[in-house]
Amino acid sequence: MPFKSNFLWGGAIAANQAEGAYDVDGKGLSTADIQPFFPDADPTRLNFNQLDRATFNQYVHGPFDYPKRHGVHFYQDYRRYIDALAALNFKTLRLSIAWSRIFPRGDEAEPNQAGINFYHQLFDYMHTKHIEPIVTIFHYEMPLNLVTTYGGWANPKVEDFFDHYARTVLTEFHHLVHYWIPINQINLVDREAFASLGIFKDQTPNYEEVVYQALHRQFVASARVKQFATQLDSNLRIGVMLADNLTAPQTCSPEDIHANFEHNRMQFFYSDVLLRGHYPTYALQWFYKHKIQLNITQSERELLRDNPADFLAISYYWANVTQASPATATGWQTHANPKLKANRWGWSIGPDGLYIAVSTYWDRYQKPIMIAENGLGFEDQLTADHQIHDSYRIDYTRQHIAALAEAIDAGADVFAYCTWAPFDIISAGTAEMKKRYGFIYVDIDDNGNGSGNLYLKDSGKWYQNVIANNGLNER
Ligand code: BG6
Repeated sequence: MPFKSNFLWGGAIAANQAEGAYDVDGKGLSTADIQPFFPDADPTRLNFNQLDRATFNQYVHGPFDYPKRHGVHFYQDYRRYIDALAALNFKTLRLSIAWSRIFPRGDEAEPNQAGINFYHQLFDYMHTKHIEPIVTIFHYEMPLNLVTTYGGWANPKVEDFFDHYARTVLTEFHHLVHYWIPINQINLVDREAFASLGIFKDQTPNYEEVVYQALHRQFVASARVKQFATQLDSNLRIGVMLADNLTAPQTCSPEDIHANFEHNRMQFFYSDVLLRGHYPTYALQWFYKHKIQLNITQSERELLRDNPADFLAISYYWANVTQASPATATGWQTHANPKLKANRWGWSIGPDGLYIAVSTYWDRYQKPIMIAENGLGFEDQLTADHQIHDSYRIDYTRQHIAALAEAIDAGADVFAYCTWAPFDIISAGTAEMKKRYGFIYVDIDDNGNGSGNLYLKDSGKWYQNVIANNGLNER
């Protein structure tokens, strides 16, 4: 069998998409709490991840429906969800801590004790059910105050606030949590500057430079987490997380092949910095060409050099292609592979890309890999007798686990596979509920109505078997 006997089978969620209770027990307002739901919008065109100031102000002042404020009530109901995952033999659940539950405004000296208590109880409970928590420290939500008062990660103070927050949670929970991911999908800053950095599109005339300088702060913040964790507890493992975006050339024209090469090389930039410990020359050249001047100090260089991450976490959803596009600033465009089927949200299904990605990253870094997220959103139909016949989800997951097994057979060291998301939660991109990912159906609709009951889907029974067999039994 390709999977090790202690392989961590599980799933992944984020606090802001599941917990709800957005103003309970002292939690502050976060960037995710002001994301509205637009029932009539074309879901492929919504983009909360890049906001200008005027749109942000509209969202803050409403009135809109804000689904992430109620989530799926995980804050109150976590025992019920953890029990349901334990019944499927889950070995791990990757989840995040809500920054604004620990530091409601982000800039306080002392943490909110009620927030700390919640995660103590949650992680303790997970351990009683033999489910190992893998924790993301920052997953698309930061205290809103850090955006409105400080300008997000454009401000160096935010790096220090994050460091204080990260040290606080590492100190509190290091005996309960072994694997930590400082920042979700650190490589998506160019398209998610608001969600990842709290920066508005029109915040500054030199937007691109400010975004990459803010990214540099996140690199340094990640290295600071690693440095602190090493001193705190030698059992801790700190990861770097990428959303896999490696592409194939759209055609075999030399222009597309070249554009694809350049695109992919810049995809490696993030993990090259955090796993190899320095800025690669190709990236410095790219910044030079794009007239981006970064301020990188000697002590930061040394910090990055001395504190590389321990593992690589990858989220994998789709398979895209790159086409040469001389008129664009980058020289390329990427889009869904037209040869593949896609879901209603335009996300293509390409399991072989997972084999290629895992193998490529392994060959490049030789560092342990975890699949931090993998899944596809579908509209499920709940039958009158509370069944969900989701053979499409079984097909998707089976094909991706087979691709992962192939990469392991070919040498990759993979220690965990987390599906996104094991039970239905609010969509990150569209804030809707009907884009469902779970093995467990959560009876809540787009407007937050429903019984809240949990129903096991066909895919849940199937995944339970996969875990029990430590892999696909049809191999
Ligand atoms: C990942 C994010 O990129 O995509 C998750 O880390 C997100 O937070 C997932 O939920 C799926 O995206 P969406 O928009 O379908 O929820």
